[in-house]
Amino acid sequence: MNKNTNEWVWWKHGVIYEIFPKSFYDSNADGTGDIQGIILKLDYLSSLGIDAIWLTPIYESPMFDFGYDVSNYREIDPVFGTLNDFKTLLVEANKRNIRIIMDMVLNHTSHLHSWFLESKSSLDNPKRDWYIWKEGVKNKPPNNWLSSWGGSAWEKDETTGYYYFHSCMKEQPDLNWRNKEVIEAVFDEVRYWLDLGVDGFRLDVINWIIKDKHLRNNPSYSRLLNIQRHLFDRNRKGAHRIARKFRLLLDEYEDRMAVGEVFSFPPGNPKLSASYLGKGDELNLAFDFSLMYRTWSASSFYKCIKKWYKLVADKGWPSIVLSSHDYPRSIGRYAVLNKTDRFKRAKVAAFLQLTLKGTPFIYYGEEIGMTNVFMKPSEISDPLGKKFWPIYKGRQPARAPMQWTSEKNGGFTSAADTWMKMNADYKKINVESQLPNDKSLLNLYKDLIEIRKNTPALYSGEFEAVKKGKSGVLAYYRLHYYSDNVFVALNFTSTIKTISVKNTDNWKVLLSTHRNKEEITTINELKLAPYEASVFIKI
Ligand code: GLC
Repeated sequence: MNKNTNEWVWWKHGVIYEIFPKSFYDSNADGTGDIQGIILKLDYLSSLGIDAIWLTPIYESPMFDFGYDVSNYREIDPVFGTLNDFKTLLVEANKRNIRIIMDMVLNHTSHLHSWFLESKSSLDNPKRDWYIWKEGVKNKPPNNWLSSWGGSAWEKDETTGYYYFHSCMKEQPDLNWRNKEVIEAVFDEVRYWLDLGVDGFRLDVINWIIKDKHLRNNPSYSRLLNIQRHLFDRNRKGAHRIARKFRLLLDEYEDRMAVGEVFSFPPGNPKLSASYLGKGDELNLAFDFSLMYRTWSASSFYKCIKKWYKLVADKGWPSIVLSSHDYPRSIGRYAVLNKTDRFKRAKVAAFLQLTLKGTPFIYYGEEIGMTNVFMKPSEISDPLGKKFWPIYKGRQPARAPMQWTSEKNGGFTSAADTWMKMNADYKKINVESQLPNDKSLLNLYKDLIEIRKNTPALYSGEFEAVKKGKSGVLAYYRLHYYSDNVFVALNFTSTIKTISVKNTDNWKVLLSTHRNKEEITTINELKLAPYEASVFIKI
């Protein structure tokens, strides 16, 4: 399909690749990945076939939470390079038809952002109301709201003796989105990036941005596990109003998009996620994390998909996410005990993600099967990991440096040390060793992305389930109104499975873990090898 025709909407039909920049590639030998490093790897990304990169935050930040604490939305943090580096990245990426999506942290800033420094300076500072301030009650926080980082979400600031609210760390005060000046000021920052030419935004915890006007106490409460029902500080109706405004802002520009992180605990709340698509007037896409929280089971995956599609329906377009910087790497999640089948399952998962209806978001390193790093408490710098270890080791094990080669430090850096521990398996699992191997996971990703790109039924066709996972097989059609239909069969099990499909047509293999490309077959009695994943196109 010609990408210049209207039918090819890039954020619907393209493949998006998430980069955690500190860990992608280090260009200046300081042990930390940077923007120039990403530029050096654009040819790799282009050969992978992706259409857009989502960068986790690269703005100026004291890095209490890996950049999700922004102290200046218009500057690039020196760790990553300069604004000029970023502009070069835009140009170089665009030359290769790769778009750039920034991570926009709307809910909070850093406690070192000039807005907060002004806001806390006095009770009558003009920016006082830009954050959420309240007097304590008998020297205790104003209400029972808990931070997702543990403990009260209120921090007393000695300058005025008031408390300020922080959904996350105390170094991340929440902005007051009920204040019109805040909306204008943040939207100006957003415009700044749109004017520079970025193609879209991933919106951090979008469902948290509006809090109850009266700051009413949340209902249930378990101090031990830091769990509470966040009735009044999250998922307020007003967040949808902001999402609509954000969409209007985006639509002033051509061809831009926003994808929302809709955070829920326990994770995976498709109804809530889908609600952020509004009536097609809120965000273009929203994440549903349900598939990340399912153990390896065709039927349980099917149930998630069915629910997600039903909820998204014609309000918008689904996204398909199997991993991200906040969750353990998928290869370990989908094969916890069964280590021998890891790569086989990773291949089936790749087929699933890249043949379903919806925009796939691939987390860097998934294409080579990177695994979580084992970390000792002393090696962890993620505040969540430090706080909750050993119950929860935090998110860092999934954020290790990309494994490019089998050389020292995986070819990620020429420095003696990497900013965080490399995974010891880099000698075996790396890009260089997988490239020449036709059967590698990396080449499978490339092939899948390529067939997806060239097959209208795969990038925009409707989904129709044929086998719903009961016997361990998931099979579905992708139906296109003018182009050839596709049939996908995924055997999630380690045994041979035969499926019967009421269909007498002839089909050609587009891509398969076990069959030869171009092979012609019928699908009415289809025998699937263990962990076979095959895509057929009707002839
Ligand atoms: C989101 C980000 C996460 C960050 C948090 C606070 O969930 O994905 O990494 O720590 O928001 O900004």
